[in-house]
Amino acid sequence: MLSRQLSRRTTRLLRCGYSTSSTFKTAIETAEKIVSPPSPSKFQDPFSIVSHEMSNLAKSIANLIGSGHPVLNRVSSYYFEAEGKNVRPLIVLILSKALSKIPVEQRNRIEIDTFDVTEQSLFKGTPSSQNSTIAGKSIDDSLSPLAILHGINPKVILDPLSKPMDKLPYIETGILPKQRRLAEIVEMIHTASLLHDDVIDLSDSRRGRPSGNIAFTNKMAVLAGDFLLGRASVAIARLRNPEVIELLSTTIANLVEGEFMQLKNTVLQNGNEDEILNDGSVKTIPQPTGKVPTKLHEYSVQSVDHETNVEAAFEYYLHKTYLKTASLMSKSCRAAAVLSGSQDDVIENCYNFGRNLGLCFQIVDDMLDYTSNEKSIGKPSQADLKLGLATAPILFAWKEEPKLGDLIARKFNQPGDVELARNAVEKYNGLEKTREMATMYCHEALKNLRVLPDSEARSALELLTNSVLTRTN
Ligand code: FPP
Ligand code: MG
Repeated sequence: MLSRQLSRRTTRLLRCGYSTSSTFKTAIETAEKIVSPPSPSKFQDPFSIVSHEMSNLAKSIANLIGSGHPVLNRVSSYYFEAEGKNVRPLIVLILSKALSKIPVEQRNRIEIDTFDVTEQSLFKGTPSSQNSTIAGKSIDDSLSPLAILHGINPKVILDPLSKPMDKLPYIETGILPKQRRLAEIVEMIHTASLLHDDVIDLSDSRRGRPSGNIAFTNKMAVLAGDFLLGRASVAIARLRNPEVIELLSTTIANLVEGEFMQLKNTVLQNGNEDEILNDGSVKTIPQPTGKVPTKLHEYSVQSVDHETNVEAAFEYYLHKTYLKTASLMSKSCRAAAVLSGSQDDVIENCYNFGRNLGLCFQIVDDMLDYTSNEKSIGKPSQADLKLGLATAPILFAWKEEPKLGDLIARKFNQPGDVELARNAVEKYNGLEKTREMATMYCHEALKNLRVLPDSEARSALELLTNSVLTRTN
């Protein structure tokens, strides 16, 4: 493969007249440098490169989510207390550091805001001006007068996001204050989605503890998720960049749409929109009156041709996977690039890096659901089939064994269905094929990173990308 790539690139170099005055050997050496794998990292752990920012993450988020209600505070901070993977903020922070290695003259798409937050906050004005005017320009400053934001009790002028971010100078870290805030916002949106997801999935554990729905209640978990989204939205607005506001707001809608596609799989359920409840009973959902026009995904539903059906199911699966997982990663990577002032080709590659990494991450997650035990992943394993979800491993088996279509359509709800499905995955190498699929996205993500200059941060991203493929939890 490498030699094929090498000879193709060498031919291109020679064709470009690159070596008219140099020898063939020089051309080979140059080509080798282009295609050779990244130099081995000096570090084992990508986390170490942003450890200072990462250790500040939970504390900074805590400053953004304080409320006047003690129980709401307990629920909304619950998932931040336990050690999560924090993979999304980690990617945003390392990518931001890697982007800072692009010469600043090439980063003039927008005016880069390198001001340290704490210094900016010194210009916040007097309490009376905070009461009525719009003060400041930093991510810690409100856009509307605080009295308006606070609402009913004007005596207490308390900015919901009142404590300025810790000072971590851009000059030393290469990470802009806005990019650090972006990392916090991304983790808040993700955590909100987990609180909701555990209600939907009837989970009983997460991060080695009872999940939010169990530790509190469904009602409190849903409300805490909504609250986190509200506070994330305030922080998004204060980034004061319309392009980034659009990207991040879209991720919230995408998460919901992805979860809905998972809940109601129109391709695999014979177009039947009725809901099968936990007790096996069927809930008929209302039909549209036509008063509000609705747009549908155009997926072919139940063709007579098996191959067409499998193809449609994979297309649906990948679209759902993008919306549910890769959207937040890709759009936050894009947002980090936008904030860095980089040019369009860099922004595009950062977006595609996040997209490919996100797809790889979720496909591996779907594979781990079949292979991990509960202890190693801190949440119930092998839950997908029990929840009626058809992910890549079973779709690969279905491709070989058309009869599995009936099980998939009835969401594995008959006794013995789950075991039959698991055996079929084993028989038709569903897990191996799923790993190949994830590997393809991993390689694409690594290619996207080539747009960034060689740096420790880029090597850390490469290491992290490879480790997504080999992770066991
Ligand atoms: C985990 O999936 C869940 C998600 C990646 C997204 C869930 C999205 C929603 C519930 C929509 C609501 C969104 C917001 C922003 C409030 P999983 O069940 O496959 O993973 P798990 O095993 O960790 O539970
Ligand atoms: Mg879940």
